[in-house]
Amino acid sequence: MNLILMGLPGAGKGTQAEQIVEQYHIPHISTGDMFRTAIKEGTELGLKAKSFMDQGQLVPDEVTIGIVRERLGKDDCKKGFLLDGFPRTVAQAEALEDLLNQLERTLDYVLHIHVDQGLLMDRLTGRRICKNCGSTYHLEFNPPAVEGVCDKCGGELYQRDDDNAETVGNRLDVNTKQMKPLLDFYQGKGYLRTINGQQDIHDVFADINGYLEGISK
Ligand code: AP5
Ligand code: ZN
Repeated sequence: MNLILMGLPGAGKGTQAEQIVEQYHIPHISTGDMFRTAIKEGTELGLKAKSFMDQGQLVPDEVTIGIVRERLGKDDCKKGFLLDGFPRTVAQAEALEDLLNQLERTLDYVLHIHVDQGLLMDRLTGRRICKNCGSTYHLEFNPPAVEGVCDKCGGELYQRDDDNAETVGNRLDVNTKQMKPLLDFYQGKGYLRTINGQQDIHDVFADINGYLEGISK
């Protein structure tokens, strides 16, 4: 199962990815998570990515394409993959196409989680994440049973550096501009499926799963 999850910041890519990988056991490849790990570890990649991420800008294509190329070449991706947040530009989509051709792989679906932009500021500024296991919560829409504590592992919840109102505004502007040509690109190739991301989290997953059950049968 070879999948791409697309959507504006806060549309619910990470939330849905958690459920997809739990059910289908394919590696979750999130370029945002890879950059955040690199920043935490203080690597050269982290240094390159940090200034762009802090401003809500995209990390340059050549850097991003390089890390995805390396990751998709690893053995665990032979059984499939779930790309989350990549590609985000047409140049990235074209590079991915070349890479998949080289690996003799084809995409099954590009799942686009659609949410109106006006709803996303609240989703992002209210998001909290587990320091220990990475599970995602929301103060209002998906709160943990005990405030500040992860339901799954008891870890401490924190707020991402780029989830402040100013950076979120930039992220939404930058990503909205990039989105349309990318949707057209995948629509033209027949891979695009659009999911209503404004439903309850479980209903969004049920819609996604409707497509995935068809692949795994
Ligand atoms: P990345 O980490 O990918 O962030 P993003 O795209 O901004 O998306 P998010 O992770 O913020 O949102 P999400 O859609 O996963 O939402 P979530 O499920 O958490 O990228 C960060 C940065 O890295 C970029 O700005 C860029 O600088 C760089 N980068 C990454 N990839 C790149 C690339 N390919 N090229 C260049 N640069 C790149 O949900 C959000 C909140 O809403 C949560 O609190 C959740 O609980 C809640 N929620 C989820 N679903 C629902 C629902 N159905 N109803 C109500 N609430 C919901
Ligand atoms: Zn946890």
